[in-house]
Amino acid sequence: MAFPPQFLEELRSRLTLSEVVSKRLRLIRAGREYKAPCPFHNEKSPSFYVNDQKGFFHCFGCGAHGDIIGFVMRHDNLGFPEAVEHLAGEAGLPVPRPTEEDRQRYERRKTLHDLVEQAARWFEQQLHSSAGRAGLDYFMRRGLDGETIARFRLGYAPGDSNALRTHLGKQGFSDEDMVNAGLLKRPDDGRSPYSFFRNRVMFPVTDRRGQVVAFGGRILEGDGPKYVNTADTPLFHKGTLLYGLSRARQAAADGKPVIVAEGYMDVIALVRAGFEGAVAPLGTALTETQVQELWKLIPAAEKVPFLCFDGDNAGRRAAWRAVERILPHLAPGQSARVAFLPEGEDPDSLIRAQGAKAMGAVLEAAIPLSDALWRMESEGRPTDTPEAKAAVKAALEARVATIADRDVQGFYRTEMRRRVDEAFAPVRAAYNRGPWVPGQGRGRFGEPPRRHVPGVPGRLTSKPAGEGRGRASRLASVRERILLATIINHPELFGELAEPLGLLPFGDPELEKLRWAVIECLSDDRNHDSTLDAAALCRHLSSAGHETMVGALLGESTYVHAGFARPEASTEDARKGWWPAWRHLHHERVLDDLREAKAALTRDNSEVNFARVVALQQEVIRSGQGMTDDGDSDDV
Ligand code: UTP
Ligand code: MN
Repeated sequence: MAFPPQFLEELRSRLTLSEVVSKRLRLIRAGREYKAPCPFHNEKSPSFYVNDQKGFFHCFGCGAHGDIIGFVMRHDNLGFPEAVEHLAGEAGLPVPRPTEEDRQRYERRKTLHDLVEQAARWFEQQLHSSAGRAGLDYFMRRGLDGETIARFRLGYAPGDSNALRTHLGKQGFSDEDMVNAGLLKRPDDGRSPYSFFRNRVMFPVTDRRGQVVAFGGRILEGDGPKYVNTADTPLFHKGTLLYGLSRARQAAADGKPVIVAEGYMDVIALVRAGFEGAVAPLGTALTETQVQELWKLIPAAEKVPFLCFDGDNAGRRAAWRAVERILPHLAPGQSARVAFLPEGEDPDSLIRAQGAKAMGAVLEAAIPLSDALWRMESEGRPTDTPEAKAAVKAALEARVATIADRDVQGFYRTEMRRRVDEAFAPVRAAYNRGPWVPGQGRGRFGEPPRRHVPGVPGRLTSKPAGEGRGRASRLASVRERILLATIINHPELFGELAEPLGLLPFGDPELEKLRWAVIECLSDDRNHDSTLDAAALCRHLSSAGHETMVGALLGESTYVHAGFARPEASTEDARKGWWPAWRHLHHERVLDDLREAKAALTRDNSEVNFARVVALQQEVIRSGQGMTDDGDSDDV
């Protein structure tokens, strides 16, 4: 008789597994677990472990595995209800008395279970009878042997639409139950019910405990859907069960990967190839309930099942839909990986053609869910304008916002922003690729570096503003503002100033972001050709999210230091003022680098560190020589 789930929950939470077990065997402490020689097989050294956190026992010798009720059932040789009553006694919990309705529902389910089991047996027999010849041939053609057919209890539903009804009727089952179990269909015109599955090879579907509850039937030839599946019944809900679930539970407990494939034949092929954690949804896309179900059956540390999809466009779309559904339910340590098969293959065809190794390689190449999310929102989308980039960013943010768990959401947000920054800063990426020395690269910004002077870093370091030397960094940040304001007000200078601007990272993080935005906007070929004016550039920057910063930058607080930065200054004045400000900043950065290089040399007197100090000393001299006072106004 079924017990209310709340009662069983309460029972499990009141009792400690190790206490119940230790009343029956002597347990030895082993870290956070307990161990003992296994009571379920003969052994001398203990391989039977009890884990109170997980509420499970597991024997590494014989594979015995279960929870507190399972232990008592097995150890005391009791049925489920007896074990529960026994434990309730130990816990001092009254056993709830089933209502009449509970009793009836239980009876109905028990009858349906029996009925479906009898049907499964009959389908199996049919496969080996003359009526099932075509079915058996079909399975053989697909490479299944007798052992596999028996293991998966494959069967055949003959074309005679009354045969199953007659057979089960003789065993005392009613038409009504056969209809309820989804085996018969009742026509609307009142004639007698007929077989739902006809002329199909049959795949029985079992529930969590391994009892048959439903079927899938595949057509051999002719018209009609390739597969039909039992509709929802009192025993079976498509959206919660998975084909292969009870086997996968055991496999997961044994540390094997859980793999979600698409179809019946895939699961069979995977299991035969040693991937016993294979499951498949039943004629629908993977639901979130099914994923929850998988997380429940996988032990705590590895709740990251593989989701397999075809590598073609349809497969990718299916993968993204799965990602979309799973995102809200992510939790710490609870995720999924997405594996793509070679185009046009499913696990069954891949394993048949190339063996288990090829399948292993597919799993190895699986991507984490965060990767999948990134690809889903960035692949195939235009990203050539700031607006397009912002659109990708917004789409990612919207997806991340669906994650219910706050910690997971936070980490996803950080991760997606990092990817956006990396992917959408092509100039910076080219720039980081290698050292680049001022004055040696001509031409457009973003070209690959031409020459490399050993020991001289192509990229100057930048110190966050306010860190360390207060006045110096404040001054630096003023210079940074002036450099940017000048270019924003005089974008016509960008062609000339792109290179030095690109070479000099800013210390102030906000200004540094804006520097990239300006470079990106102005290096965009389309903007370049149409020579963006200051107003248009400001609009672009605002739409890319820099409105506040631009507003703060373009004002008296900047212009008081440098009149040449004003919009009304002539291009020539702006140019003349810009260079000295840049040289000052550049010189300071080289000095910073030299200071650091010297410190490194003190710590580690190596050849490399020495060469770097020498090179930077020369660089300081060179950059100092370039510094003149003309045009450098005010206190900058
Ligand atoms: P596929 O069409 O990919 O078939 O359907 P398959 O699994 O590769 O089957 P074989 O190899 O041709 O025998 C994948 C799964 O989708 C469901 C079934 O569960 C199937 O296993 N399906 C497919 C249906 O429910 N109905 C259909 O008509 C087709
Ligand atoms: Mn297939």
